Amino acid sequence: MSDAHMLDPEILAHYELGFEQSRLETVGRVEGVRTRELLRRLLPPAPAVVLDVGGGAGVHALPLARDGYEVHLLDAVELHVQQAVAASEAQRAADGRERLASARHGDARALPWADGAADAVLLLGPLYHLDGAGRAAALAEARRVLKPGGLLLAAAISRFASTFDGIRARALADPLFAEVCAHDVATGDHRNPDGRPEWFTTAHFHHPDELWDEVAVAGFGVDGVIAVEGPASFLRDEGWWLDDPERRERLLEAIRRVEHEPSVLGASAHLLAVGRA
Ligand SMILES: C[S@@+](CC[C@H](N)C(=O)[O-])C[C@H]1O[C@@H](n2cnc3c(N)ncnc32)[C@H](O)[C@@H]1O
Repeated sequence: MSDAHMLDPEILAHYELGFEQSRLETVGRVEGVRTRELLRRLLPPAPAVVLDVGGGAGVHALPLARDGYEVHLLDAVELHVQQAVAASEAQRAADGRERLASARHGDARALPWADGAADAVLLLGPLYHLDGAGRAAALAEARRVLKPGGLLLAAAISRFASTFDGIRARALADPLFAEVCAHDVATGDHRNPDGRPEWFTTAHFHHPDELWDEVAVAGFGVDGVIAVEGPASFLRDEGWWLDDPERRERLLEAIRRVEHEPSVLGASAHLLAVGRA
């Protein structure tokens, strides 16, 4: 199946700009650091089979392979799969460490793996680019390929993220972006009518309760919904906090302290649902 059949053309055009490979090292550093911390804490010990569905250019898959996991990556954007394969080969050439077990082009709604094949499934992306029926299909597929008791980690973007970010970045002063934010809060369905790269692309932004419910309705036991960046979402000065080891640890401690706090969840740019098959 071609990229265009799996993804809305606007979503595909956004990812073909090629920002994804370096995003977590530039504008999304706290998201990257916290996601890696949560993966280390929540995944079963290596070697376990991890399916990274919507794994992009391998930003999480490669460190996990390096840690000894058997990681299979799948993504709907061919460019991302090529980037992941190239980075995987470079990792092995550089230090001889484990590379990805496989990387392929595919759709979260129709996974190529057998029932019960995985110890863990990462869905760090597809849920915010699918409609309600697509999200239900992706979650059903994740459940099918997990062993009984296997772990689902599924990311969402908060419904309130565009409002917070619009104020931080002053985009909200633009009446068109103010309308985008109002629509996001009312419906969760984010659109980018002007196609500006900094306004993201066609997406669904979740209310934290909605994410919990969708995972539960798909038949998972829900261990919780975690704030990924929490109060450190929408920082202007990520480097100031992260580049100094003491400040970095102070920041991460502060986020951990409130990561399960229901009144903080909606103000976190990203959310992570933890489910058990
Ligand atoms: C924002 S990126 C996140 C990449 C990476 N998982 C991360 O956490 O940084 C979202 C990813 O989901 C992928 N994606 C969206 N819909 C998908 C689908 N239906 N099936 C597979 N991948 C999908 C996109 O191609 C993109 O690589």
